[in-house]
Amino acid sequence: MENNDFNLKSQSVLLVSEQGSIARMVSDVFPSSENNTVTESANTFKKLNGAALQLAFKHDLVIFEIDSDDAGELQAIEELLARRSGDTLFIALTQNDLSITKARELRKIGVDEVLPLSIDGEGLKAAITEKVGARIVPQPVFANGPVAQGKIIPVTKSRGGIGASTVAVNLACALVGGKRSFFRKKTESRVALLDFDLQFGNANVFLDIEDNGGCLQLIESAEQPDDHFLSSILQKHSIGVDVLCAPAPMVPLQSIRSDLIEELLNLLQRRYDYVVIDLPCAIVEWVEPILRRATKLALVTDTSVPCVRQARRLIDFYRETNVGLPIEIIINHERQTLIKPAHVREAEKVLETKLKHWVPDNQKIARNAVDLGQPVIAMKPKSDIGKALAKMAEALGSELQVAAPKNN
Ligand SMILES: Nc1ncnc2c1ncn2[C@@H]1O[C@H](COP(=O)(O)OP(=O)(O)O)[C@@H](O)[C@H]1O
Ligand SMILES: [Mg+2]
Repeated sequence: MENNDFNLKSQSVLLVSEQGSIARMVSDVFPSSENNTVTESANTFKKLNGAALQLAFKHDLVIFEIDSDDAGELQAIEELLARRSGDTLFIALTQNDLSITKARELRKIGVDEVLPLSIDGEGLKAAITEKVGARIVPQPVFANGPVAQGKIIPVTKSRGGIGASTVAVNLACALVGGKRSFFRKKTESRVALLDFDLQFGNANVFLDIEDNGGCLQLIESAEQPDDHFLSSILQKHSIGVDVLCAPAPMVPLQSIRSDLIEELLNLLQRRYDYVVIDLPCAIVEWVEPILRRATKLALVTDTSVPCVRQARRLIDFYRETNVGLPIEIIINHERQTLIKPAHVREAEKVLETKLKHWVPDNQKIARNAVDLGQPVIAMKPKSDIGKALAKMAEALGSELQVAAPKNN
């Protein structure tokens, strides 16, 4: 095979294994004469502590031995991968008689390759060369900047029509920054906006773009998406946001497969600094991978009793999937008052947070923005609603510093 002629070069590898024979094999596959470094940890993930775990992301590759019947081990690696950023590849070495279901489970939590412990040096080299190759090849497509480590910001709502798409669109546009900035930010960020409100998605309306069938293609895709596919389904908007529209035809809410979402997020996080996702007002399985990777969630509501109650239920649900998920509550259609009315104090109590982001109701400008297909912050930045949306975006954006690119 061609791969056998190819030496793995300049790779930094973390090996987590208790077996000396594996350590020897890995050292052979990654010769130091080719500028590779192999750091060995004679341990298991379960026994590594937080700081040691974080170090994993500093490497190009993490090769680890795992007993897939050990729930503790699986949990340790799942928790680690949920906090994944950057493009470190995780290669598992596990039982030779591993069932397909178990292998899928490992892949589902984000392990890039699952190989049998009995694999020999040549086999390991071939499998890793293929993975490393797949990781490197797509880069020239977006060679106009460093590899991103995208922040995922889902936007959700306590009821339909409350203004989540308005918030998502304006937030995404504001996050672009740079010369076209709506707030002080020197460099331009790469931003994607995905409208996953599958049945009632209308984010495209605010940007005057039509569905290109991309989401439907994603739904119907039998294969995992790749960079080429991603480019074909996203539409560039002149403001600097790449948009995936919700499907124009009605589709069942459960349509998207979680594993497709997982892979899509992998690709997006490498290409964009920010990925803003308009979520449906419903609990569906495929939302889980989004929540697990979310940096922050924006929840749009008003302070009415039913909406606040629904917001509380949603927060509890989201936190079940991602315990530490920071949630920003955005109150739409309401103005903040100097003295807090009783119902606002009550809402803060129920939601266990101070309500910091308020967007006033302005039917005229909201309507104009839709008619013109322009985000409010671009069309009327000086209006009350424009200023409030920009302030909200700045507050959310400034807390979400984009991590420095990997320099190895
Ligand atoms: N603060 C606001 N003032 C007035 N109208 C608004 C405001 N926010 C949103 N709207 C309008 O309300 C309608 C529903 O908003 P949208 O963002 O589509 O809601 P959702 O995505 O939550 O269903 C849109 O026509 C939008 O222009
Ligand atoms: Mg919407």
